[in-house]
Amino acid sequence: MTRYYAFLIEMTPIPRKHIYRLLILFLLPLTETNADTYCGLILDTATQPIQGARVRFQNTKVTTVSDQNGRYCLDSEGSQSAITAWQQGFYIGGIGLPAEGFSITLRRAPQHHGEYEWLYSTRQEGAPRHPDTEPCENCHTRLTREWIASGHGRSHTNPLFGSVREVAMKDFGDTGKQCALCHQPQGSNKPIGCDFCHKIKDVVGLDSQRLGVERIQLLTPEKDHIFFGPIDDIWERSDTYEPLYQESEYCASCHQGNFWRTEVYSTFSEWRDSSYAKTGTTCQDCHMKTSEVYLANPDDGGLKRDPQTLSSHDFSISSLLTKAISLKTDAEFNDDHLSVDITVSNTGTGHHVPSGSPLRHLLLIVSVQTPSGMLRQISGSTVPTWADTQYRSLPGKAYARVLKEIPNYRGSRKQHFKPVYPAPFWRPSLIESDNRIAANDSDISHYEFELNGAASAAISVELLYFEHFSHWMSLKAATPVTMSSINRTIEK
Ligand code: HEC
Ligand code: HEC
Ligand code: HEC
Ligand code: HEC
Ligand code: HEC
Repeated sequence: MTRYYAFLIEMTPIPRKHIYRLLILFLLPLTETNADTYCGLILDTATQPIQGARVRFQNTKVTTVSDQNGRYCLDSEGSQSAITAWQQGFYIGGIGLPAEGFSITLRRAPQHHGEYEWLYSTRQEGAPRHPDTEPCENCHTRLTREWIASGHGRSHTNPLFGSVREVAMKDFGDTGKQCALCHQPQGSNKPIGCDFCHKIKDVVGLDSQRLGVERIQLLTPEKDHIFFGPIDDIWERSDTYEPLYQESEYCASCHQGNFWRTEVYSTFSEWRDSSYAKTGTTCQDCHMKTSEVYLANPDDGGLKRDPQTLSSHDFSISSLLTKAISLKTDAEFNDDHLSVDITVSNTGTGHHVPSGSPLRHLLLIVSVQTPSGMLRQISGSTVPTWADTQYRSLPGKAYARVLKEIPNYRGSRKQHFKPVYPAPFWRPSLIESDNRIAANDSDISHYEFELNGAASAAISVELLYFEHFSHWMSLKAATPVTMSSINRTIEK
């Protein structure tokens, strides 16, 4: 049903040819630019009305909700190709325009689980089994390229994870088995694939001792495919909208977890307790932003979309690391001393810095150079002895969550391993200290150096990010990333 509005225009007598011209001018834009109202019904397959469905002109911001009789009206401003509708528990439905009527029938999404074989993400994993189950790469080429390079796409081949898990398995086989709940939830030697992440229906039990896939409610029907996603207007396929995909709780399933009841992965709760949670800035807002305009290749049915509604899947933190914190030094000459105050502020991270794996740690390294040599530190902290050899005892400090083993943990098997400090999280351990910097928090440390008569001094401050403790299980030393540095010279 399309309503057109009539206009009554009072005109003074004018020559006939002008009337014709006015008529033409008036009639042409009438069908194109006037607001059209499209009204129709949203029904289920038993022709029962669906109340509260989200109705939209596809790929536009024009949207409404169906009333208790399933009825909707949408006012259009431009040209549009389809009307789509979605309600929880249904696939997204739609009709292409122009159309005879504007009623839309929604198919109920399957609720059952069955024998399920995961679909392939890439062609390399295997040839398509069926035209409906081609690897995602065929149509989502850009997203697949990003995902292959991401931690999620490499979780089954990551050598660091492999070697750390091997030791965990030797220490405690049962604990070692738990690694797969987050790292390989689709089974051993499989990455965290596209199909797995897009079958997540809900996340439950965040305050329980469950881990990873144990908290995830999947929907894996044996027939009738379903893909959950963040977009509510994709209607010609087996897609449905799920608001969870734009919420931090989605990520919490794997980015939060306890071992031996000690919180070792806590990125989600750090975020939940920060101001970012209060203002609604989610994990996805910082980690999945893109400027791309296609989610599927245009040749395979992808529409040109607003990049703000799309996402990146590379989850790379290398560019984020240098924006995460800000450094400040204040220095002053005091008689024969030089005092230096260093402020490290977490200005760009929605959780602690560092966060994630308990292997992550930062080292702050301070040095003062004068024409006659390096100045000797006389007060202030030094880098702890568990840091990599070349940094130990230098002026500076470490930021880390440090675990210590519980000696003779009751109920654990006889400990045949050599103690390690900081303790690995798969061994029964407690948090000994945690001085990581919370979101919007700062840490100030104070150092004094002996001047030895120098009248000028070059201060150098560096904040280094390490992905793991290399003394653990004789891992190869990590190459640190410089998060921030300051070099300045001060004169007396
Ligand atoms: C770790 C889980 C995870 C993995 C792995 C994953 N996705 Fe996603 N995907 C998401 C989340 C979460 C969103 C929603 C992001 C948003 O809207 O902010 C999303 C969004 C999408 C969208 C919607 C459009 C867009 O750009 O936001 C498509 C299409 C998609 N993913 C396809 C894929 C494909 C193809 C793969 C594999 C190559 C894949 N996903 C792997 C979690 C995942
Ligand atoms: C034959 C091509 C094709 C294949 C293969 C394919 N997709 Fe898609 N997919 C599309 C198209 C087309 C869209 C919609 C594009 C648009 O509207 O811009 C889409 C949309 C999506 C969405 C968005 C759903 C929403 O409502 O937010 C997700 C998620 C998704 N696909 C996941 C996958 C996953 C996972 C795989 C592999 C198991 C896959 N797709 C394989 C073509 C394909
Ligand atoms: C099924 C479990 C799972 C889900 C769901 C999941 N992740 Fe991950 N994520 C992991 C694992 C495991 C790794 C580490 C993989 C590795 O490095 O081997 C990881 C790595 C990452 C990294 C990379 C960190 C780095 O050091 O490079 C980021 C960032 C990240 N995830 C963010 C997210 C966000 C944001 C979400 C929600 C949209 C999410 N993840 C959902 C399991 C998951
Ligand atoms: C305000 C933006 C912002 C938000 C919100 C945010 N992050 Fe981050 N995230 C960052 C930055 C910046 C870094 C790099 C600094 C760091 O490593 O802590 C980072 C790093 C990470 C890392 C790597 C940690 C490390 O130190 O190796 C993971 C994993 C991660 N984020 C996951 C998440 C998850 C899960 C959420 C939601 C619960 C989230 N992030 C919310 C900005 C954000
Ligand atoms: C609760 C889910 C979960 C469990 C269980 C889990 N991990 Fe992780 N792991 C993650 C996430 C998420 C990341 C990414 C965080 C980050 O980048 O800092 C990660 C990162 C890592 C990394 C760093 C990888 C890299 O390349 O930097 C190692 C190593 C690791 N985990 C080892 C293990 C081992 C060994 C186990 C079993 C004893 C285990 N994890 C159990 C979620 C989990």
